[in-house]
Amino acid sequence: MTILLTGADGYLGWPTALRIAARTDDRIVLVDNCARREWVEEVGSTSATPIASPEERLDAAREVHGCHNLSFVEGDLTEKAFVDELLEIHEPDTVVHTAAQPSAPYSQINGERANYTQHNNLQATRNLLWGLEEHDLTDTHFIETTTTGIYGAPEFPIPEGGATMEHDGARDEVPFPAMAGSWYHLTKSHDAANMRLAHKQFDIPISDVRTAITYGTQTAETAADPRLNTRFDFDYYFGVVAHRFCAQAIAGYPMTVYGKGEQRKPFISLEDAVEGLARLALGDPADRPAEHAVYNQVTRAISIVEMANTIADVGDEFDLDVAVEHFENPRDEDETHKMEIENERYMALIGEQRQTFTEGVRDILETLVEYDETITAHEDRFLPGVLDDWETADETELTYEEDAADEPEAEATPDAN
Ligand SMILES: NC(=O)c1ccc[n+]([C@@H]2O[C@H](COP(=O)([O-])OP(=O)(O)OC[C@H]3O[C@@H](n4cnc5c(N)ncnc54)[C@H](O)[C@@H]3O)[C@@H](O)[C@H]2O)c1
Repeated sequence: MTILLTGADGYLGWPTALRIAARTDDRIVLVDNCARREWVEEVGSTSATPIASPEERLDAAREVHGCHNLSFVEGDLTEKAFVDELLEIHEPDTVVHTAAQPSAPYSQINGERANYTQHNNLQATRNLLWGLEEHDLTDTHFIETTTTGIYGAPEFPIPEGGATMEHDGARDEVPFPAMAGSWYHLTKSHDAANMRLAHKQFDIPISDVRTAITYGTQTAETAADPRLNTRFDFDYYFGVVAHRFCAQAIAGYPMTVYGKGEQRKPFISLEDAVEGLARLALGDPADRPAEHAVYNQVTRAISIVEMANTIADVGDEFDLDVAVEHFENPRDEDETHKMEIENERYMALIGEQRQTFTEGVRDILETLVEYDETITAHEDRFLPGVLDDWETADETELTYEEDAADEPEAEATPDAN
């Protein structure tokens, strides 16, 4: 059996690769173009945890965990010929697709980054799905980390997947509307729709894993050796809110909560996220709930203010003097939105939660105190960049070449998050 894991150089992809490799002798082919390393450099930041090159990571995985079944291919999934070659050579039985440009703020910087993000994410997924069809691999289980951001912030409890629509006295089950609130998040709404279509047209078994905001620095496997570290970003563009707040706590910056901060967001620990992906990749097909299944990869919704207070409390254990400051909210959002999100299917998959938010914050701070100099050297990156930076970056850094023939028609979608 062969598993193809895309985005394997990334925050989630690398620890997922290690977890899968530690549990099977199946061949695991890792793919990445290492673009994430460049994006973070482009916004003037760096991973707080030092990260080894893909080759060094593989050597360490062999030495430390005896994983001889990993190989790494560097390449860009937006190139159809590259994806075709990959599928032709390796004929994977399972694809775990975590490759994407995953930052909402990055996708919002300007039109060029919005184009880049949507082109990158949609093209990569389409190449893989069409590649499976065109190489007679339609029994291959396709697993993708989409996002809970697909759901936006509706007033009703979020189902694990579709929605019921009522109109004119009739009702039907429909895919959840694309209520994503950023150009990045919307790529995942489109991916979800494309996966649904690929299942319908090509019969490819699909697990659409709607990943929540993921927190944590380590998993059981990465913690065994510093060369196995996964990345940890804390800048405005690539640091998720919990990670940015933890880094601010380390640097002695107050945590800023806009308004009441009572709106809840869905969270999951890295450990719990990796476990679900590994179980899906290695599980018996007969145990899957459906041939096209949506999983809400979330363990709990947490309010922004609870998150900040938890970090402040755990910070006390590390003698960090962390202040939580409330500012007037510049955003037009419901500061008390009580997100409720169903997750029975995902919890049945992983069995139990392995790490609570408090435990996760303790682990993060324990890791970050070691790298406080890296964080303080980049503390201006907690805030968005100024326009001059972007003009410079625009001229020199972005490599996306517009290819109208490859781009799908833009779709009109509602917008809320
Ligand atoms: N981390 C989170 O909190 C979170 C939350 C919701 C959803 N997700 C989703 O989970 C997945 C992984 O997220 P992450 O946080 O690990 O991000 P990440 O940026 O660390 O990992 C994604 C990897 O994909 C690679 N990649 C991107 N485009 C590529 C291409 N065209 N060809 C080859 N490789 C490419 C990047 O270089 C990177 O290493 C993404 O799909 C993301 O949208 C993550």
